[in-house]
Parts: sequence; structure tokens; C-alpha cells
Amino acid sequence: MELAPRCYAEISLPAFRANVSHAKDTLAGDAQLMIAVKSEAYGHGAQALARAAREAGADALAVLDIAQGIALRETAPNLPLLCWLHSPTSDFGAAARARLDLGISGRWQLDLLVEQAPAMNTRVHLKIDTGLHRNGALAEHWPELVRHAAALEAEGHITVVGIWSHLADTSLEEDRSSLQRFQDAVAIARDAGLSPSILHIAASAAAADLPETRLDMVRIGIIVYGVSPFDDRTAQDMGFEPVMSVHAQVLSHSPQGDSATLGMGFGDGLLPPQDGRGWVSHHGVRYPIETVDADHLIIHSEGDSPLPPVGEWITLWGDPQGASPRAEDWASWANTIGDEVVASLAPHVPRKFIDEN
Ligand SMILES: Cc1ncc(COP(=O)(O)O)c(C=O)c1O
Repeated sequence: MELAPRCYAEISLPAFRANVSHAKDTLAGDAQLMIAVKSEAYGHGAQALARAAREAGADALAVLDIAQGIALRETAPNLPLLCWLHSPTSDFGAAARARLDLGISGRWQLDLLVEQAPAMNTRVHLKIDTGLHRNGALAEHWPELVRHAAALEAEGHITVVGIWSHLADTSLEEDRSSLQRFQDAVAIARDAGLSPSILHIAASAAAADLPETRLDMVRIGIIVYGVSPFDDRTAQDMGFEPVMSVHAQVLSHSPQGDSATLGMGFGDGLLPPQDGRGWVSHHGVRYPIETVDADHLIIHSEGDSPLPPVGEWITLWGDPQGASPRAEDWASWANTIGDEVVASLAPHVPRKFIDEN
């Protein structure tokens, strides 16, 4: 950690392990549990969190792209690492050598894989778009994709271990329709001669609210970081603890003594609250946030409460005792989702990992 940071994040590995284990009990049921550690584990730190997920019993990890998968291979030597965002310059040869599981959405990806890594039996999960329209093969391209995959499997280039999709999570009804489209796509793949053993479609929200989407594996992200994907329930309501807490130091008071400058701003990844809705808390007193600037924020006092003293550390979010705002509060002040609050934390903000081991 830097000698005198203005702000830092504390990352609780015991809380994360407890959340992964709670997800196994309450969101996975009989299904396998894949933990998403993409985007540097939503800003928490991919290496440490991937290790903790493995220790807490995750069956697999989701990592977005090949580079992230390769970076985590040593940390999780025996876990499936699924990556699915590819470009024509992706290194499928390196992916195959690192034994990554590849999410495949189009024929060109299969062809590039076989060109760069022939006869390596690379594990593939074919992805069907079921309504989200973000990655995944369209239904009209699916029969041709599965036929091609079956031919490449027969020649020993790939093994189709999974079929998957990602839900829109806009409503339970929409997710149920997506599940039906998914089952139709699986039937077409089986008719083409494929026999995938891992069907997966649910992330945090559907795994919680629509258990029939759990299938063989759930891919769980934001909820195990202690941040809710729902508007009507906090993560704590569901038994998950905050993993990240973010702290900024009181750097100075205004000459009038009615406002204080804290050492974190939007250049550090802090999302400015809209419409004056933000606040911080110190010893039970709330101080409204006046402005967020590049490297600091300003709070003011209301009534005759004294400002927190210079040098004091203020928890901006994630206090496990609930004295501070939650990441979800910052999300609502900034009109966004909790994922963005935690994942926006800039890489230069020191992460202090807390562990009991
Ligand atoms: C493909 C995929 N699976 C799973 C997840 C995890 O989703 P959530 O954070 O809602 O659990 C994500 C995250 O966006 C994703 O892109």
C-alpha cells in the first residue's frame, strides 16, 4: 500500500468466501457454481478473489476474455475458466494451451480455434442468444453452428461440454421465455449429435428468483460481492455481506468551518451523486455531499454538528455494520447499478486485502 493514500479500499476475503459458500447453498442447489471474476473481479482484484472463490468451493470461474483466463490459470490450476468475448485477433492457440473453456457464438470462432489449435480437443460452450442480444448465436444461425461443431468434435478438434446463454433479467416472464428458447436450442444441438453435459443460463438474479433456470450450473457475479442485483432487496437481506469497503480521509476544513474536503473523487472512480442525494456518515451524523471533483469530494455540515476532524477516515460505502451508505445507495444516487459502483474503482486506489488466514 502507498505510504499516504487519500483513499483506499478494504477487501474482505472471509466475507467473499462466506458469500460464495452461501451462494452454493442458496443459489446453486444441485447445480455447479461458476463465479464471475471478470473486470478484475468487479474491481476487487481478480487474483485474490479467484483464489478465495476456489478455496470456498467454486466449481468454475468466468473471466470474459482469453487474456484474463490465461492470467488466472496459475491461481486456479484445476478449475474450468470460461471466457467468451473474442475478436479476430484473439489468440485461440494460447487459450487451448492454457486449457481454457471457450464460449463460442459463431462459426468464425470455431474455424479460428481449429486453425490455431488443431486436434487439441478444446472444451467449448456454444452460446445461443435467447433475447438479450449481446453475444450468442442468433436462432437462425444455430442449426448450422451446432452441425459444424459436431463435425469438428468428431474430428477431435473440440469437445462441446456446454450450451449456454445469458438472461436479460428484465422480468421473470421474459426470463421464462428465454429459458424455453434455450431448451429448444439444446434440442437442436442434441439432434445434431452433440451431448453437452453442462447447460447454463442463470446469473445472480434468475438463480435467486427462478430456480428452474439453475440447470447444471449457475454463473454468479455481483451478489457474491455483497451487492444486490435487485431494487427491492439488499444483498444483506439475502444473507450476503459487503466485500469491499471504501475509505477516504478528511484532508481539510473550509475556513468558515462548514465544509470538509475528503480525499476521493471521480478520477479515483467515485460516481458523482445526482440531485444532491449523496451523504456520508460519521459517528451517526449524516453529512450531505456537496460536490465530487477529480480527486476529492466536499461534504458540509447541517445544523450545529461539528465536522469530522481532519485526518479521520470516512467510510464511503461497505461498512459491514451498516453505518455507511451501501454500494447500492451510490448506485441509486448515480442512476446506475451496483456493479458500476464497485467496478469503477480506479486501479490506482490501493486495495488492502483482509484475511484471517
Ligand atoms: C455471461 C455472464 N455470466 C454471468 C454474469 C454474472 O452476472 P451477475 O453479476 O448478474 O450475477 C455476467 C455478468 O455480467 C456475464 O456477463
